Amino acid sequence: ADTLSLAVIPGDGIGTEVTAEALKVLGAVLDGGPAKVETTEYDLGARRWHATGETLPDSVLAEIRRHDAILLGAVGDPGVPSGVLERGLLLRLRFELDQYVNLRPSVLYPGVATPLADPGTVDFVVVREGTEGPYVGNGGALRVGTPAEIATEVSVNTAYGVERVVRDAFRRAAARPRRKLTLVHKHNVLVHAGHLWRRTVEAVGAEFPSVTVDYLHVDAATIFLVTDPARFDVIVTDNLFGDILTDLAAAITGGIGLAASGNVNPDRTTPSMFEPVHGSAPDIAGQQKADPTAAVLSVAMLLEHLGLDDAAARVQGAVATDLGRRASGEISGPRRTAEVGDALAALAS
Ligand code: NAD
Ligand code: IPM
Ligand code: MN
Repeated sequence: ADTLSLAVIPGDGIGTEVTAEALKVLGAVLDGGPAKVETTEYDLGARRWHATGETLPDSVLAEIRRHDAILLGAVGDPGVPSGVLERGLLLRLRFELDQYVNLRPSVLYPGVATPLADPGTVDFVVVREGTEGPYVGNGGALRVGTPAEIATEVSVNTAYGVERVVRDAFRRAAARPRRKLTLVHKHNVLVHAGHLWRRTVEAVGAEFPSVTVDYLHVDAATIFLVTDPARFDVIVTDNLFGDILTDLAAAITGGIGLAASGNVNPDRTTPSMFEPVHGSAPDIAGQQKADPTAAVLSVAMLLEHLGLDDAAARVQGAVATDLGRRASGEISGPRRTAEVGDALAALAS
């Protein structure tokens, strides 16, 4: 049987706690099956930065690059200046590995509690651009700390970058039953980038006549995510809008503890990276309070990406069963992170 190699970066805070459970479930679902996965764990994050000043050394990046996929927990720590680990580790991986499709599905599982009174059937995916936009770090500050300080963050949008993510979103929309794509931007204000996105969707859309195209300004999109989330099928949007919308999308579909994601290079020239949408949650870190379900569902996305569809379906099935048991009251009260992992591993094996 083939052996797949997986780089594991647990990271900071609850990242380490949820990753332990994700690996537990991965081990259980592959146990005795035809596929084998070999994992290499990388110690990156706050501990390493404090010890060595390193975020992601070139040599470590080169090693990670040789794996078939990456599983990441979360990065960021209150003891490290904000942005050091986020940019130096997480964003560096996304950029260096050219993971231009940040895939974030939102599905409201049956019985799962939502703050919405009448959500309908919620099943959409956000295709968030992963390598451009305001995230590139193009900007700077002048006269810092003075009354004349000027800070800029310039959003970079290239025809190449927008086209490839829009094309990916159309492909995904064409393969889904509802075949609907919504571009979310703000072209009434951000006219340079906005019109590039609009024209690109129009041009690529001509190649996908089966897909219905829709547009929303990002502010209005937040209204409809709350009042009528069932209208969405595939959303394509820029890096920053996608970041914000997907925390909201998580909140309406059972919470941030359930939201999974993939940073995908669809061309498969580099490894893709799977991680929960949430962060390191310093407020609950080290207390076994985090829900590992988002990390476990990220493993399902990883398995699907590697072509292990049966294993992916079993992980998803385990989560659906566990969520059903929570909804029915069969499972009640808070469970420790490891208890949820144990339950999911048992269901998936
Ligand atoms: P966060 O997602 O870490 O936490 C937001 C809230 O959600 C907190 O109240 C937290 O306790 C809760 N929460 C998050 N995950 C949960 C889980 N699995 N189960 C239960 N509750 C959960 O976002 P934040 O507070 O804005 O950021 C904290 C740190 O994480 C920052 O350093 C930030 O930069 C970083 N961050 C990293 C990633 C990533 O690695 N992909 C993502 C987001 C934020
Ligand atoms: C996420 C996070 C990251 C992002 C940060 C930590 C760089 O919020 O994965 O959603 O903004 O992409
Ligand atoms: Mn985010």
